[in-house]
Amino acid sequence: MSKIKAGIINVTGYIGIELARLLYQHPEVALKSITGRSAAGQKLGEAFPHLGNIDQVIKADIDSDVDVVFSAMPHKSSVDVVPSLLAQNIKAIDLSADFRLKDANEYPKWYGFTHPLPDLLPEAIYGLPEIHEKEIASARLIANPGCYSVSAILALAPAVKEAIISPEIIIDSKSGVSGAGRALTLTTHYAETNENAFAYSVEGHRHLPEIEQELRTLNPELALSITFVPHLVPMTRGILTTCYAPLKDSNLAKEELQQLYRDFYKNAPFVHIADNPPQTKYTRGNNFCIIYPTIDLRTNRLIVISCLDNLIKGGAGQAVQNMNLMFNLPQPAGLESLAIYP
Ligand SMILES: NC(=O)c1ccc[n+]([C@@H]2O[C@H](COP(=O)([O-])OP(=O)(O)OC[C@H]3O[C@@H](n4cnc5c(N)ncnc54)[C@H](OP(=O)(O)O)[C@@H]3O)[C@@H](O)[C@H]2O)c1
Repeated sequence: MSKIKAGIINVTGYIGIELARLLYQHPEVALKSITGRSAAGQKLGEAFPHLGNIDQVIKADIDSDVDVVFSAMPHKSSVDVVPSLLAQNIKAIDLSADFRLKDANEYPKWYGFTHPLPDLLPEAIYGLPEIHEKEIASARLIANPGCYSVSAILALAPAVKEAIISPEIIIDSKSGVSGAGRALTLTTHYAETNENAFAYSVEGHRHLPEIEQELRTLNPELALSITFVPHLVPMTRGILTTCYAPLKDSNLAKEELQQLYRDFYKNAPFVHIADNPPQTKYTRGNNFCIIYPTIDLRTNRLIVISCLDNLIKGGAGQAVQNMNLMFNLPQPAGLESLAIYP
């Protein structure tokens, strides 16, 4: 089979840079075209010295001679570039939130804009292979999930689908600073984040509607009531999420719960059900989501802890996993690297 010709729009953000690293090393991909506003005209390895060997030139516009394009644009901007890709028969994997929500009415509330292409939303497939594997394989437009959303949905999906919990769910997440992107802001500069930790978007974070949308699809009967509170912690990458919900059956044993999770993810190559609480360094730089489900016996409450790398399973790696499915490749192709430790 000839190699998949891939392009990246906006290589100058953290997600775009990670996509370039992963796609360059992918055995079945030829990275053909990359764009980046502030680095146009430079070679990739010049603009980003950790990619020193790659002498491909960053351009202002994407070439049309590609099979698939990854858009790593900010939300509200991706929706401007995706339609022209589809019109040229190029498959599109969008890493922004512009196609994640099925209900166009949610965009003004959560993202502050009226969606200009509501008719395209039903066609976009939410790019979580553990839940939508078949639809992803035949899609031409993928809405890659948000980083917090992946950690929360994967942690809760088995419990929601099997209805072992009451619907009052609490999701508590901690993220490294790269989750906020590469652009400079006061909240993310060193003196503000180093040796500091804080909650934000407490009354409602943007990833909440997609978490609700996907969990509802898994079990429409469960009247979900979710509180989600994200925190910023002083690390570069990684997300640690802890979810809590009352268990319906007070006789459920921890071993049964863990077996239920193992069965649910038996065909998911990038989900690992662990015997102990995972740590963010277990997934630093790789495409795994590690999940530890357990029971607080005193309160009969489900506790599920998950961790992943926000830039890989929470972003660029997930997008490559989706591309593999779209081009009939094994899901792990090009994604088999181990985590970096310490
Ligand atoms: N960071 C994560 O952990 C993560 C995870 C999952 C998904 N995502 C999503 O992936 C997309 C990229 O995220 P990121 O973290 O890589 O972003 P980022 O690092 O903040 O990238 C921002 C860069 O995008 C460029 N850009 C191009 N067009 C722009 C425009 N119209 N407005 C503002 N900036 C523009 C700018 O670089 P130039 O000046 O060079 O154009 C800017 O520095 C976003 O939609 C984000 O929500 C991010």
